[in-house]
Amino acid sequence: MAGRLANKVAVITGSTSGIGRATAELFAREGAHVVVSGRREELGAQVVEGIRQAGGSASYFRADVADGAQIRALIEFAVETYGGLDILMNNAFSGPRRNILELTEEEWDVSMNVGLKAAFLGCKYAIPHMIARGGGSIINTSSVHGVLAARNYSPYDALKAGLINLTRQVAVDYGHQGIRVNAICPGAIVVERSQEHIRQHPERLRRAQVIYPVGRIGYPIDVAYAALFLASDESSFITGHALMVDGGLTVQLQDSLAEVVAQHLMEHSGW
Ligand SMILES: NC(=O)c1ccc[n+]([C@@H]2O[C@H](COP(=O)([O-])OP(=O)(O)OC[C@H]3O[C@@H](n4cnc5c(N)ncnc54)[C@H](OP(=O)(O)O)[C@@H]3O)[C@@H](O)[C@H]2O)c1
Repeated sequence: MAGRLANKVAVITGSTSGIGRATAELFAREGAHVVVSGRREELGAQVVEGIRQAGGSASYFRADVADGAQIRALIEFAVETYGGLDILMNNAFSGPRRNILELTEEEWDVSMNVGLKAAFLGCKYAIPHMIARGGGSIINTSSVHGVLAARNYSPYDALKAGLINLTRQVAVDYGHQGIRVNAICPGAIVVERSQEHIRQHPERLRRAQVIYPVGRIGYPIDVAYAALFLASDESSFITGHALMVDGGLTVQLQDSLAEVVAQHLMEHSGW
């Protein structure tokens, strides 16, 4: 299939929904063979079916990224099914967000395993196959929480920050062998999981119009397009980078933001 990723083989962890799903669908539209992954088998099958019906190439492989052996099996599945591996997006995450007094030691460990160790293992198992092909592109889904902190967001803020420097470190070690590693840092993205919350709190969308310099909240396709660029050869001189996909959320000084919010409150009631 023709496209910006024609005949590339891509593995995307956490692609049964949300950002990963949108990225899997876009990569397939651009000609990649995509391995969709996550724990919810029914959703994985649905994503694959949708891609195939649209004329794309995809397979589902169930993997829980909390388990290193399953990450290795996922990578091996891609290589055996499609003959190699060119693109890996370490994207899966779910876990608690609390302050450190409430967070248990076990919750910390599980979160770190799913959100940070899994990316290390994904890179570890994927890179030898990529080197065998002459190179590859790895994309780690970090967050605006990887560069700034928010209330009650432990361990999320810590693991997303860790992902950014893991990205740089692996980029430095393997650049000479054709491996590029970049991170994407999304702002708030409306995914399936957040739709009920948005329905109950429509003010979140109104707030985003004020807080985000581009005047809106983000959608999975916004992140998918950034991932497409980083996955493709168009970004061949870009590695170790953390790309903010946040509608300008993190470039505005806090006093400027406070002014915008104060002005909005004066002009409108119902923040
Ligand atoms: N939405 C946002 O506002 C936002 C902003 C910044 C960054 N992000 C990041 O974007 C990434 C994707 O999140 P999303 O917002 O698209 O949410 P989502 O729709 O809930 O997607 C999370 C994905 O991760 C998978 N997953 C979770 N735990 C897993 C595990 N232990 N093993 C394998 N797969 C697992 C889920 O699949 P299963 O449940 O089927 O396993 C799902 O496909 C995450 O890294 C998140 O931190 C999101």
